[in-house]
Amino acid sequence: MTQRYLVTGGAGYVGGTVAAHLLERGHRVTVLDDLSTGFREGVPAGAEFVEGRVQDAARWLDDSYDAVLHFAAFSQVGESVAQPEKYWENNVGGTMALLAAMRAAGVRTLVFSSTAATYGEPETVPITETAPTAPTNPYGATKLAVDHMIAGECAAHGLAATSLRYFNVAGAYGGLGERHDPESHLIPLVLQVALGEREAIAVYGDDYPTPDGTCVRDYIHVADLAEAHLLALDAMTAGTVPAGEHLICNLGNGNGFSVREVIETVRKVTGHPIPERTAARRPGDPAVLVASADAARERLGWTPSRPDLADVVTDAWAFARQREGDRP
Ligand SMILES: NC(=O)c1ccc[n+]([C@@H]2O[C@H](COP(=O)([O-])OP(=O)(O)OC[C@H]3O[C@@H](n4cnc5c(N)ncnc54)[C@H](O)[C@@H]3O)[C@@H](O)[C@H]2O)c1
Repeated sequence: MTQRYLVTGGAGYVGGTVAAHLLERGHRVTVLDDLSTGFREGVPAGAEFVEGRVQDAARWLDDSYDAVLHFAAFSQVGESVAQPEKYWENNVGGTMALLAAMRAAGVRTLVFSSTAATYGEPETVPITETAPTAPTNPYGATKLAVDHMIAGECAAHGLAATSLRYFNVAGAYGGLGERHDPESHLIPLVLQVALGEREAIAVYGDDYPTPDGTCVRDYIHVADLAEAHLLALDAMTAGTVPAGEHLICNLGNGNGFSVREVIETVRKVTGHPIPERTAARRPGDPAVLVASADAARERLGWTPSRPDLADVVTDAWAFARQREGDRP
């Protein structure tokens, strides 16, 4: 059945990709985005676009919507350390206003983009949803605060909500891809070297207790991530995640790849030598961050269909070259 969805942050990387998936399934999508870090051309064709802030969601949200998918947030860890107030205002203040608008409009279904950063330094890997949450930066703290806020809203006001805690999202889909500015994610940074936009890739620490000494992360293809959002909506519509429940699911492949493995894969995919230089460890960078996605499998029936790192890099590379070709 055709549903109507409000997608906040749908001019950004993940929100745009999820919006594209919703449209492909025949749903109606309105993107609400203030273009603070997103791009007008990142809104997929077929979506209605409203340029505005989540803080003002009450202006547009009404009972014609079946659910909200909430991606709009700031997500640069370093910036959140330098300007925490910017993160509390946008990520927490924005969500508080959105929840109030949803309550007023009677929209009682929500999918929220949470993050592995809510866990901080893991005590054990793979990380499950019951692991202690101890964020090491304001970005992770704001996302954890929002998860707490959503839990209260579910318990007190009958919201059905799913928080998806993404690990490292990568790859591209349908001409939409990653273009953060400044870019802080490894795969697009290494691809910038392949494109000649950056001389070398910095490897922050090669003396971690991992097989090759570099940090290990869990990379999930953005299209697999998008599928999980659709399954979460299905579960809430079908009532397997009922009103009053706040389901939290980690989303990752459960496979870790080291920084050096990523660089090597980019060398293979692009044919570029990718010079690297070793730099000092960054404070607060855990050695290994790998998700247990058992909850997403069990509760949502989700399985990643593109777990191979080479596929992720190939799609990201196609997007990076397309953007390069589009430049004047
Ligand atoms: N990309 C990842 O690897 C990753 C990992 C974990 C969690 N997340 C979360 O996923 C979400 C999307 O991330 P992304 O990588 O697509 O980021 P992005 O910056 O590409 O997209 C965020 C979008 O939200 C918009 N936005 C921000 N504040 C807004 C506001 N107040 N009102 C309206 N629009 C606003 C921006 O303009 C942008 O289009 C974020 O919430 C982020 O914290 C991303």
